[in-house]
Amino acid sequence: MGNVILTGDRPTGKLHLGHFVGSLENRVKLQADPNSEMFIMIADQQALTDNAKNPEKVLASVKEVALDYLAVGLDPSKSTIFIQSQIPQLPELTVYYLNLVTLARLERNPTVKSEIKEKEFGQSIPSGFLVYPVSQAADITAFKATHVPVGDDQQPMIEQAREIVRDFNRIYDTETLVEPDVMLPEKGRGRLVGIDGKGKMSKSLNNGIYLSDSAEEIEKKVMKMYTDPNHIRIEDPGQVEGNVVFTYLDIFDSDKEKVAELKEHYQRGGLGDMTIKRYLNEVLQDYLAPIRARREEFAKDPEYVMNMLKEGSEKAERVAAATLAEVKAAMGINYF
Ligand code: TRP
Repeated sequence: MGNVILTGDRPTGKLHLGHFVGSLENRVKLQADPNSEMFIMIADQQALTDNAKNPEKVLASVKEVALDYLAVGLDPSKSTIFIQSQIPQLPELTVYYLNLVTLARLERNPTVKSEIKEKEFGQSIPSGFLVYPVSQAADITAFKATHVPVGDDQQPMIEQAREIVRDFNRIYDTETLVEPDVMLPEKGRGRLVGIDGKGKMSKSLNNGIYLSDSAEEIEKKVMKMYTDPNHIRIEDPGQVEGNVVFTYLDIFDSDKEKVAELKEHYQRGGLGDMTIKRYLNEVLQDYLAPIRARREEFAKDPEYVMNMLKEGSEKAERVAAATLAEVKAAMGINYF
């Protein structure tokens, strides 16, 4: 039997270059593998766990994320793209799994812990948020996923899903559920630094370059990029480590020789920030122009996009329903 891959994103905004190098690019590769079947979920239900009071952002982002997927070349004829909230079997599985997980275990989940801090819930943690790892286990197991590609911050989620699978199969004496393996991004591609050089590219830090950014926006962002604060005059020797322009050139420029040459020149002195930024701008423009063009084409046809999501969700529901039936049979609650 081939691999089943389940992955997805919380729709809380448009996707940026960090998403691209950390996951989208890899998905495009995986979808070409004839031995793998891939399900890509827009996790709107999960996004609502901390956005219930202002759902507009989540709802609008579902369409944006779908456009980003199509723009990078995810192909609905090869991969199943669907919306989490449209699959009622997922919350149903979640209810059964919740009984297998203690509150203490959820409170110990490192990702949940750090997100609780980050989101400043204080004493008002939504219960749905605290238990989202269990619903994520439902997402994964509903499709009998063998592989789950995620960023390293999500590794504890997969660990928790594996525990649930082992517990379920042991308690109900069954082999229904499949224990998933995590697939982490390649070295250096997992946490793309933002243009400010301060931390991971993220919407909340406002340091991202988006797949939907216009050519002008990209250029503006490149010109603002963090380089080496001690590289003041052109003739000064400059640092390439921690210099965002070079970090991005390493990732996005296929001309490795040229990058090595530029680094050497910069370190020696005599190469100005303006010059390297203009060069990076060209590289990024070449990279993003076809993605943006495809995005604009798909954006002209919202009916096609919604229909694609509907068909994907219908297919996903059929798969999830088959698993749920097995789960209920294993538990003995298939009364009729
Ligand atoms: N938690 C993931 C994120 O924040 C999104 C997600 C939800 C997911 N369910 C999933 C990822 C199942 C992989 C598998 O990006």
